[in-house]
Amino acid sequence: MAQLLDPLHRRHIEQLGLQPGWRCLEVGCGIGSISQWLASRVAPSGHVVASDLDLRYIVNLHVPNLEVRQINILEGPVEEGAYDLVTARAVLHHIASPERAVERMLAALKPGGVFLSIEPDMLPATASAPESIHAFWQGWLEWSSSVGIDYFIGRKLPSLLAGLNLEAVAAEGHTALYNGGSPWAIYWLETLQELRQRLIESGHVSAQCISDFDKLYSDPRFWTSTITFIASSGHKA
Ligand SMILES: C[S@@+](CC[C@H](N)C(=O)[O-])C[C@H]1O[C@@H](n2cnc3c(N)ncnc32)[C@H](O)[C@@H]1O
Repeated sequence: MAQLLDPLHRRHIEQLGLQPGWRCLEVGCGIGSISQWLASRVAPSGHVVASDLDLRYIVNLHVPNLEVRQINILEGPVEEGAYDLVTARAVLHHIASPERAVERMLAALKPGGVFLSIEPDMLPATASAPESIHAFWQGWLEWSSSVGIDYFIGRKLPSLLAGLNLEAVAAEGHTALYNGGSPWAIYWLETLQELRQRLIESGHVSAQCISDFDKLYSDPRFWTSTITFIASSGHKA
């Protein structure tokens, strides 16, 4: 995911005016690649907190102006009014109360500080073809909603941010079109390897559907799109 989404994430952060000296917080940072990049960009006087619920991929990160911290954004302590930038990517769609998570992230911003989230909206999957791929994504979306994942959260964030009194709220979508065997296709094939059994047992996706999916996602002549990643941002008043 980091390889596929870091260029987009970095571009949006740059556009929002990142400066040396900024204090930054990344929530749900995964392998921490964006936090490491931020640390290099805000050095020498800036500071970055790379945080996640699960520190397994970042516990050994040693960068002078980067601090690794375990934060559950729904519960753990977060300093108030401390950061110039708070960002989270592909985190809110997994969270039981995204509203609370966003409120807590906004509380961590200084006045004038910048918030940026990048979250999925699976609208393209709902219009995918051929029928076997469409049926796969329908089943995937039913399964994900049954386990509390909101793959349509991207479209909901701008109004949520505006309702929380952020200023200059803006949002923009990015949709990759990719073919079988490409990095995005491999990402999905690997994800499916992990979830195959669970999906079939849920009754939402058939083994036949998964086998058709495997075939097309390995075929370079097959082109498709699945997710629009929506970058939503605003400034704290
Ligand atoms: C799909 S991964 C995305 C990782 C990374 N942001 C990226 O885009 O590559 C979701 C991340 O959110 C973290 N996460 C889930 N719930 C969280 C919570 N309540 N507080 C903080 N992090 C959370 C997970 O541990 C995981 O690292």
